Amino acid sequence: MWATDIVLLVVLVSSASAATSASKDKVLSNHANILANNSATLAFSLYQKMAKDKNTENILISPVVVASSLGLVALGGKASTASQVKTILNAAKVKDEQLHSGLAELLSEVSDPKARNVTWKISNRLYGPSSVKFVDEFVKNSKKHYNCDNSKINFKDKKGAVNAINEWAANCTDGKLPEVTKDVEKTDGAMIVNAMFFKPHWNEQFHHKMVDKRGFMVSHGYTVSIEMMHRTGIYGFLEDKTNKLSILSMPLAHKKSTMVFIMSNYVESLERVEKLLTKKQLNTWMGKVQQIAVAVSLPKVSMEVSHNLQKHLMELGLTEAVNKSKADFSKISGKKDLYLSSVFHASALEWDTDGNEMDLSVFGTDKLKNPKLFYADHPFIFLVKDQKTNSILFIGRMVRPKGEKMRDEL
Ligand SMILES: *[C@@H]1O[C@H](CO)[C@@H](O)[C@H](O)[C@H]1NC(C)=O
Ligand SMILES: *[C@@H]1O[C@H](CO)[C@@H](O)[C@H](O)[C@H]1NC(C)=O
Ligand SMILES: *[C@@H]1O[C@H](CO)[C@@H](O)[C@H](O)[C@H]1NC(C)=O
Ligand SMILES: *[C@@H]1O[C@H](CO)[C@@H](O)[C@H](O)[C@H]1NC(C)=O
Repeated sequence: MWATDIVLLVVLVSSASAATSASKDKVLSNHANILANNSATLAFSLYQKMAKDKNTENILISPVVVASSLGLVALGGKASTASQVKTILNAAKVKDEQLHSGLAELLSEVSDPKARNVTWKISNRLYGPSSVKFVDEFVKNSKKHYNCDNSKINFKDKKGAVNAINEWAANCTDGKLPEVTKDVEKTDGAMIVNAMFFKPHWNEQFHHKMVDKRGFMVSHGYTVSIEMMHRTGIYGFLEDKTNKLSILSMPLAHKKSTMVFIMSNYVESLERVEKLLTKKQLNTWMGKVQQIAVAVSLPKVSMEVSHNLQKHLMELGLTEAVNKSKADFSKISGKKDLYLSSVFHASALEWDTDGNEMDLSVFGTDKLKNPKLFYADHPFIFLVKDQKTNSILFIGRMVRPKGEKMRDEL
């Protein structure tokens, strides 16, 4: 009797732990995987449009969040207002219900704070003018799939509207994102706002004492004072001699994603490097990266960037939703009385020395001898690339960090 009981107990315990590990490494649905891949394609086309904008300095966008804002447009749109979203996401064959559930599945996978040890607060809101009546079905489904709240705002009181939007964004990012916009240009239409705070956690931390003041060369003759953190470790590294640039790939917590840096070998505007930047080229670079000793010096970063993506999404083919005389958002309001006037995509990003414990076993061994140098004291491109879904969680460029101008030598 005893023996049988024990055997039974063991079976129960092991099947329970199997269930836990299965849920930890959940397999994504086929449509979520398709959308992950296609949102990564969108990352590069959107970045390229934005980089051409002469007034844009730092860039910071989350392509998976942009994809879900597009999903919201499809949810509220009819006819070509909705179908253009599928064209942009290259998801013509994905059914409506799968588009919404797939985007939701993707975003909840990659932003899971426990599995990924990441702080990533994402809040979404759709603002409509005072006159709008939101359809219940839309309110319910936009919350369910896109965690989006809907609210009316009196755009005619511009100052009041701007304050309300900025206050909301500050609230839902614990004050990390104080401002989404200074102005609302269009006082009719619907506005989508994403407000985010992202703080990755390195798979291996930097020592908090290995931080000092250095100069960051925004351009020749313009240097700002920043805090730079330093460490040597085994990282993915590639020196692309043909293109005169370096690639560094540093894993984030639990190695579920990596932060990839692309930096020219000398101080210059990023234009030349950006011309090379495609999804295919990134994959080529990642295929050549080697795990070797690198002495990394990176600025501690705290940046807040807000973009109005409306124009760029139009350039990518979202021409109906943004056109007042064509848009059909009757699934949002029951009438053809709305168009998409703005898409504010605002994020605060911070990274510092924080991460999981260092692997001390390589210190004092030959493995760290003669490290390559990666000294990020001039503009660079960075991406957070997800290992499991191959989606891009963030893509951006650091052109002008916060900091006082330094007296230039020479
Ligand atoms: C990913 O998307 C690209 C371009 O959109 C496509 O060519 C490729 O076949 C897709 N890959 C997968 C695995 O779906
Ligand atoms: C990440 O893990 C560390 C322990 O290594 C923990 O202190 C921290 O709170 C975690 N952060 C998040 C956002 O889960
Ligand atoms: C922000 O939070 C404060 C305090 O919790 C609250 O009084 C205020 O109404 C909130 N503002 C917005 C715009 O949500
Ligand atoms: C909106 O659509 C109308 C009708 O097709 C067209 O004439 C107009 O140029 C479009 N507006 C914009 C801003 O593209």
